[in-house]
Amino acid sequence: MTIDIKKSTSRRSVLKGAGAVAGAAVFASAFPAPFVRAHSAPLKVGILLPYSGTYARLGTAITNAMEMNLAEQGGKLGGRPVEFVRLDSEAKPPMATENTTKLVNAEKVDFLVGPVHSGVAMGMAKIAREEGVITIVPNAGADQLTGPLCAPNIFRTSFSNWQPGYPMGQVAYERGHRNVVLCYWNYGAGQQSAQGFRDGFEPQGGKIVKDIGVPFPEVEFQAALTEIASIGPDAVYVFFAGGGAVKFVKDWAAAGLKDSIALYGAGFLTEGVTGAQGDAAEGIETTLHYADTLDTAANKAFRAAYKERFGVEADVYGVQGYDTLTLMKTGLDAVHGDTGARDELIKAMAEAEFQSPRGPFRLSPAHNPVQNFYLRKVVNGVNEVQRVAVEMLADPARGCSMG
Ligand code: BEZ
Repeated sequence: MTIDIKKSTSRRSVLKGAGAVAGAAVFASAFPAPFVRAHSAPLKVGILLPYSGTYARLGTAITNAMEMNLAEQGGKLGGRPVEFVRLDSEAKPPMATENTTKLVNAEKVDFLVGPVHSGVAMGMAKIAREEGVITIVPNAGADQLTGPLCAPNIFRTSFSNWQPGYPMGQVAYERGHRNVVLCYWNYGAGQQSAQGFRDGFEPQGGKIVKDIGVPFPEVEFQAALTEIASIGPDAVYVFFAGGGAVKFVKDWAAAGLKDSIALYGAGFLTEGVTGAQGDAAEGIETTLHYADTLDTAANKAFRAAYKERFGVEADVYGVQGYDTLTLMKTGLDAVHGDTGARDELIKAMAEAEFQSPRGPFRLSPAHNPVQNFYLRKVVNGVNEVQRVAVEMLADPARGCSMG
């Protein structure tokens, strides 16, 4: 069962379409309380993701894949029926504290899942650390979460912002580019992605000639494009995602830069949006921990099931949502649904290893994925894998005291 919390906790609505899940929850609540053992009661998972704004499609893809994975488990994890309680983060950092508090204190959730935006993640992580709620981050890459703010109860199934940038810096240097402009949404995610690129590029002798920050979530790119054209670098590395990525790629082509300057990005630039970008996306190369065409049984099964269920192609955000449920299941199976066995539950999650649609999945001591980063290229609207750019790359986890 999925419950949607609107702006106020008193306004809840149950979403349709999760039949098997709803059935499981109703089954559990049909027993009088004394006969329900503590760890067969429904588990509440609080979800804080964007369902409106420029990152709305990311939040939807994550939620879709979580629901799909749960349905594949018959609506139960560790033997317990699961209830999703979800709240729209709107990708607005100032609302993060209030929203997370709502889920933790008013809804009393057993797990927290979210968010997409690094700024929201900073507020969410503060409360997760104070309250000790086991939290899985299915997208936001804020380096701090698995760096100085790392904690035993905080896990990430996505990436650190540094991770996709680093391999692209290496690839750009190998390609012979020496003078590069960085252009990004000017908040934690963009800044840290740019730092990852620098770390892969500068030590070899590459030069960053200019940083151009665009305020989030602005999609007015004309001034940035004019500046890039006047500098005339060998290449540009960018961080944009969701609706902003659609606009940037189209504006780049319309400005006539596609044939004169090499454009690279963290893979979010072309992830889940190539349909909207059309021809403007063709040929763009990016690095990410996923590619549509990964030729593995896990990826083929995932993509086929997602397409059949939702009628659209899966993307990296779906993969991250799907793996969030797999990680939760690994922990809950180990303790047979007994969330009171907290140390054992956390240990099982920390040691989880499985074949994700992205390839092999395991966590670093800081609880961030150690994973392959692929060089991909858009061909006929598909992010095709070219090669593994860096195999099983771990985030440096600077400032993390775990492990
Ligand atoms: C972030 O804010 O961490 C983020 C948002 C969208 C895509 C990737 C990272």
